[in-house]
Amino acid sequence: GWTMDTFIEDAVADIRRQVGDKKVLCALSGGVDSAVTAALVHRAIGDQLTCMFVDHGLLRKGEAESVMRTFEGRFGMKVIRIDARERFLRKLSGVTDPEEKRKIIGHEFIRVFEEEAAKLEGMEFLAQGTLYTDVIESGTDTAQTIKSHHNVGGLPANMKMKLLEPLNTLFKDEVRKVGEQLGLPAEIVWRQPFPGPGLAIRVIGEVTEEKLAIVRESDAILREEIQRAGLDREIWQYFTVLTGLRSVGVMGDARTYAYTVAIRAVTSVDGMTADWARIPYDVLERISSRIVNEVDGVNRVVYDITSKPPATIEWE
Ligand code: XMP
Repeated sequence: GWTMDTFIEDAVADIRRQVGDKKVLCALSGGVDSAVTAALVHRAIGDQLTCMFVDHGLLRKGEAESVMRTFEGRFGMKVIRIDARERFLRKLSGVTDPEEKRKIIGHEFIRVFEEEAAKLEGMEFLAQGTLYTDVIESGTDTAQTIKSHHNVGGLPANMKMKLLEPLNTLFKDEVRKVGEQLGLPAEIVWRQPFPGPGLAIRVIGEVTEEKLAIVRESDAILREEIQRAGLDREIWQYFTVLTGLRSVGVMGDARTYAYTVAIRAVTSVDGMTADWARIPYDVLERISSRIVNEVDGVNRVVYDITSKPPATIEWE
């Protein structure tokens, strides 16, 4: 029968045959598809692969470090990290419309990638984590018209490189199995769905460094407590949102006027519909008190109890 072992063997042989002694470039995004692609191509051709990781500053806490630690540290791969954090913040300054944010981030990502790729010599192939479902969906264009889904890591259309898409016969669960067999860490293989525009669409309205820090820190606390409670595999997505709302609170003898953070946690099968997750009250209590105590600028935490539809999973 068909197993992941023979998949990896066959894919490695295919990649070697296609690539020969040429060089391959791969964009790492922090997501599972690009991670498995990079690990697989590296297994096939080793140092002929160069990875590029555009750090736009919109990943969750610790993710950029995890990408570098895994691919550079553990696998010994060539990884170029482009620190584009300021550049993205500048582009997003003054922008409040969610779709506008998505467009800017998608375009800017491609621009940075192209600029940096142009500095590299002799890259003949571009490896991409296209899955079987992407292949089918690209024909239709019906699924997501409510919110445009610019996936960071999409192909710069006018780059003159040949495409290498070793996962394009696999479904997501198969990609995870391949990732596990290639030795990728669970935090990457079992990463929950995460939008390409990242934390930028979890800060309502204008994105600033201060607001990103609030959503990044509160999200890290939420993830820690959900994992500690053993709920992480049951919940499809869980994250915090920095609402633009500020309200009055009290701390010691002083009145505060600070932000409200919302917790969003849903169960789902495919993300098309979703139900709000019944997180136990004591877990919610711990998350709430840790967020107000540990995150500067927050004095109130609320829980989103809306399902999809009529709400969407993300707030933007
Ligand atoms: P919504 O918010 O539309 O989200 O219920 C459905 C799923 O899609 C993810 N999502 C995105 N993914 N780029 C992405 O790659 C995007 O712009 C984007 N917007 C939403 C969301 O996290 C959920 O899994």
